[in-house]
Amino acid sequence: MEILELDHLSRHFEIQPGFIDRVIRRHPMSYIKAVESLNVSIGNNEILGIAGESGCGKSTTCTMVSGLLEPTSGDIRYKGKSIIGLKGEELRQYRRSVQMIFQDPYESLNPRFRAADIVAEGPRALDLWDADEIDHRVIEILNAVGLPAHKYTERFPHELSGGERQRVGIASALVMEPEMIIADEPLSMLDVSIRAGILDLIKELQEERQFSSIYVSHDLSILGNVADRVLIMYLGQAMEIGPAKDVILNPRHPYTRALVGAVPIPDPRSRRAIPNIRGDISKPIDPPPGCRFAPRCPHADSSCQANFVELSTEDPNAHQAACHKLDIIADG
Ligand SMILES: Nc1ncnc2c1ncn2[C@@H]1O[C@H](COP(=O)(O)OP(=O)(O)OP(=O)(O)O)[C@@H](O)[C@H]1O
Ligand SMILES: [Mg+2]
Repeated sequence: MEILELDHLSRHFEIQPGFIDRVIRRHPMSYIKAVESLNVSIGNNEILGIAGESGCGKSTTCTMVSGLLEPTSGDIRYKGKSIIGLKGEELRQYRRSVQMIFQDPYESLNPRFRAADIVAEGPRALDLWDADEIDHRVIEILNAVGLPAHKYTERFPHELSGGERQRVGIASALVMEPEMIIADEPLSMLDVSIRAGILDLIKELQEERQFSSIYVSHDLSILGNVADRVLIMYLGQAMEIGPAKDVILNPRHPYTRALVGAVPIPDPRSRRAIPNIRGDISKPIDPPPGCRFAPRCPHADSSCQANFVELSTEDPNAHQAACHKLDIIADG
């Protein structure tokens, strides 16, 4: 069975009107449609990569899956059971099972705690084991992430390098014995020279400890290396999904084709123009109902403007592109 299913998952954010609009013009409320009717499932021990340009809804999806943000509509099922509205012990268990690794190892660690206390914080808060057992597990996990306990337990975050901090972040997630890890751009704030080491560590731990993951990255070459399947998003909509190598080597959607053709740039947070495609990426503010890539797509016609193709989760391993024009593109 799939461990996680996102079923027509959407999240819209209200845009608060300015004072003048509110008082005089009385404009109707506007919405940023950050995630729109996303259908995707994740299997046991599977790594799903999510890629797409800045603002396409990757972090919003991750935050909803982690239980920290309510969807506007749709469902998130974990082991077949909806997590929407979970409370008390069930919510506690879910938050333990699904752990986040954050993008910014500088912001995500409490500066007043030593490394060992940072890692012990989760187990202590949830009262998972007695004090000796927690100490034992903290030492074990610090060793496992490449921070020998005798050298690192007493260090404060400011006494650690960026890579070492990210290792502490990974240890804090893994000490909870999660069944799923959500890693939202865990490498993008790190120096290029240490990214490969952290990526190898994540892969190694995943194989050793057997958890499912969502791994977000702008960098398709990283996802080709780490993910089993890849989901490509554009302005809140799913554009393509499939086995990582198929999507990257044989992209079907015009957007994925452009993304795969784009040269990687060193700063993943900057907005870049995708070659071969007109126009620029915008925000999904009150977007029309169709495919959000249509205004920039060389193949789009009125059917694309009118409605978008939803992906299906029926065959989780299928390679699917959410496009009306696949026949034309394949012929041309
Ligand atoms: N709390 C919020 N309030 C209003 N708008 C939001 C909020 N969070 C996200 N958004 C908007 O939703 C859209 C998706 O944002 P999100 O952070 O999910 O993108 P992302 O794919 O993670 O981008 P990046 O690659 O830059 O991290 C963006 O247009 C963003 O401005
Ligand atoms: Mg993000």
